[in-house]
Amino acid sequence: MVTIELHPQVRPLAFLLGTWMGEGEGEYPTIQPFRYREELRFWHNGKPFLAYQQRTSAIEDGRPLHGEMGFLRAGADQSLEFVIAQGIGLAEVEVGTVDGTRIELQSTFVGRTPTAKAVSGVRRVIWLEGERLHYELAMAMANVPLTHHLSARFQRTGD
Ligand code: HEM
Repeated sequence: MVTIELHPQVRPLAFLLGTWMGEGEGEYPTIQPFRYREELRFWHNGKPFLAYQQRTSAIEDGRPLHGEMGFLRAGADQSLEFVIAQGIGLAEVEVGTVDGTRIELQSTFVGRTPTAKAVSGVRRVIWLEGERLHYELAMAMANVPLTHHLSARFQRTGD
């Protein structure tokens, strides 16, 4: 098998690589709070980005919830660009930075299909604490300013 070297610009993101399993909680002023399971995976092919995929399910009955896929693009100077397509009809463009094992991203654009909800902004923070990966996500909607939606934590389970 050919081993593909990590692109040098992606080295600061190596801590994300692998498959992660975890649980999270969600809330928003317009909905009932909920809990979920999540599997997420970051992988690479030698180019200056990581590929990303996640899927979630409800804790109570395992029904599928949110899913999304994207690419986390690394610049030469710790700068990041994240492009994400979501099953709920959103296409996000985010920019941000990586500082040690903490990533902060803020949307510069949220595209919406005609039936998608009116999300207008997203902020994501992802960080490693010991062996655990964490993230928090806040979103803005038509009538709600940037407000917390999700927190989750993970353990690495594989490549
Ligand atoms: C871990 C991933 C996520 C899970 C498990 C999740 C789960 C949920 C659940 C259970 C609801 C309430 C039921 C519903 O209206 O369908 C909801 C609402 C919503 N979520 Fe998420 N979500 C996730 C990620 C996201 C992301 C990344 C966005 C956009 C950036 C998003 C945007 C929304 C919106 C717009 C609503 C509807 C709020 C409203 O109708 O007022 N969700 N989410």
